[in-house]
Amino acid sequence: MRAASSRPSLMVLTLVLAALCVVVVDGRNHIHKQKPHGHGGVGGRHNKASGANGATVVSSPAVPPEDADEPPPLLVPPPPIGTGIVPSDPATPTQPEQQPCVFDVRAFGAAGESTADDTDAFRAAWSAACAVQSGVLLVPSDGTFTIASTTFSGPCQPGLVFQVDGVLMPPDGPDCWPPSDNRRQWLVFSNLDGMTLRGAGTIEGNGEEWWNLPCKPHRGPNGSTLHGPCDSPTLIRFFMSRNLVVEGLRVENSPEFHFRFDGCSDVLVDGLFISAPANSPNTDGIHVENTERVRIYNSKISNGDDCISIGTGSYDLDIQNISCGPGHGISIGSLGVHNSQACVANVTVRNAVIRNSDNGLRIKTWQGGAGSVSGIAFDGVLMENVRNCIIIDQYYCLDKRCMNASTAVRVANVSYSNVRGSYDVRSAPIHFACSDAVPCTNVTMSEVELLPFSGELVDDPFCWSAYGVQQTPTIPPISCLQDGLPESLLDDLDLKCP
Ligand SMILES: *[C@@H]1O[C@H](CO)[C@@H](O)[C@H](O)[C@H]1NC(C)=O
Ligand SMILES: *[C@@H]1O[C@H](CO)[C@@H](O)[C@H](O)[C@H]1NC(C)=O
Ligand SMILES: *[C@@H]1O[C@H](CO)[C@@H](O)[C@H](O)[C@H]1NC(C)=O
Ligand SMILES: *[C@@H]1O[C@H](CO)[C@@H](O)[C@H](O)[C@H]1NC(C)=O
Ligand SMILES: *[C@@H]1O[C@H](CO)[C@@H](O)[C@H](O)[C@H]1NC(C)=O
Ligand SMILES: *[C@@H]1O[C@H](CO)[C@@H](O)[C@H](O)[C@H]1NC(C)=O
Repeated sequence: MRAASSRPSLMVLTLVLAALCVVVVDGRNHIHKQKPHGHGGVGGRHNKASGANGATVVSSPAVPPEDADEPPPLLVPPPPIGTGIVPSDPATPTQPEQQPCVFDVRAFGAAGESTADDTDAFRAAWSAACAVQSGVLLVPSDGTFTIASTTFSGPCQPGLVFQVDGVLMPPDGPDCWPPSDNRRQWLVFSNLDGMTLRGAGTIEGNGEEWWNLPCKPHRGPNGSTLHGPCDSPTLIRFFMSRNLVVEGLRVENSPEFHFRFDGCSDVLVDGLFISAPANSPNTDGIHVENTERVRIYNSKISNGDDCISIGTGSYDLDIQNISCGPGHGISIGSLGVHNSQACVANVTVRNAVIRNSDNGLRIKTWQGGAGSVSGIAFDGVLMENVRNCIIIDQYYCLDKRCMNASTAVRVANVSYSNVRGSYDVRSAPIHFACSDAVPCTNVTMSEVELLPFSGELVDDPFCWSAYGVQQTPTIPPISCLQDGLPESLLDDLDLKCP
């Protein structure tokens, strides 16, 4: 059921692009500053608009980057002079690489002066870029652009790039948030297939005033937490989309989660730098749920909550070369809230560094619920001053009054190998609190060696209802992993995941 994605060759894309870009240049009469009102064609797939009006609004028309003018290096030596052979025209410059169609938001009226609202310009630039193959919406490097909560939706032509080379940010705090705008999300990319978000610029979340709302933990008067709606926007959300690439950006100070992927598949995240203060509430770095085939590579995340959080419906995640901290570590869950079914399978975390964090590698589920977390491999993780380096908590609960239930999201087939480093002695470095009703099974540990960052050894790891094997002696030693399978699991409970 997991079909391999096939990519058209670059050359095909390039050729198609050449043709399509012309279409847009011809049909660019919608690139005026005022919002297009109600004529159906904008952003749609109207073919070749005939009424070319000759205006030149599209940015950087046909100015290739400097080196594109250079002839390509000669691969074949020129024929010796005087042989009489007519060369196959080496003097004709090779067809230069076709430039993608770039839609600079300034050409659509964006001011880039930080206080101006550039939302309409971004919407118009999106419509234009969306309509051509490999269109590029460009946020140029010489501006700071403010836009309100916006959904950039598809379907669009494939190869679309949202390129942030300058600074892009939301209005500064809840008081500036337009009242009619969604307070749960800011940039939303939805219904797309084959889109890239990238650039050398910064997406600045302006989160501080959101973090300080009195409804946030201990931000009320005298350190209290006030009740009431506390919605804060996720900075960047990808929804119902596939074949996504997010690369190279700096993203900081989100009011809430920095990235959220839900209902997506085939996602590559590479080379991101995500940062928010350690005490900023709920500022998860990358959250994934109901999403499959996700690769998260070569990124550095420091924030006030989970570095990467993985919710239900996440399958086939490959996470490599990640640096986390400060923050709350890499977390699967919480799962099974309100007795829901939750399923997460096939997650690999390899070559990670976790520093100064409240958790390291965490799996957390609520009491009650159904489904399973399985096929989880943590391999090659360096810890530095981390509380709860390794933790499975099937008693996750916010108010400490949750009752033990007779069902749970099952945790099975979890391996920890080559997990080393130092822990914060305020918590046991290894903590397996598995459910009585549904014990954890096949937990494999190999080369797990954790020592105190400073202070006394904590040599009594917490271990309850866990089955599995230690392939090498674990430091600190754990004595509780039981062999085989528990009686209670022999009759198959209704915990199945698809
Ligand atoms: C905050 O605490 C101080 C001292 O305990 C008290 O006098 C004051 O009324 C409290 N303020 C609020 C808003 O609760
Ligand atoms: C697990 O996910 C990886 C990608 O991260 C994929 O290559 C592999 O086939 C998946 N394994 C299973 C059993 O689905
Ligand atoms: C992880 O980092 C190593 C060393 O820099 C690099 O060789 C490797 O390609 C990276 N892995 C991925 C998936 O990018
Ligand atoms: C739930 O079960 C755990 C493990 O058996 C036990 O330590 C804890 O006291 C129980 N909690 C309640 C509320 O029954
Ligand atoms: C235990 O889990 C590993 C993966 O961590 C898997 O390869 C192995 O087949 C599992 N063993 C059993 C008995 O389920
Ligand atoms: C654990 O792995 C084994 C072997 O691959 C598999 O048969 C079993 O279904 C897995 N358990 C769960 C709960 O997925």
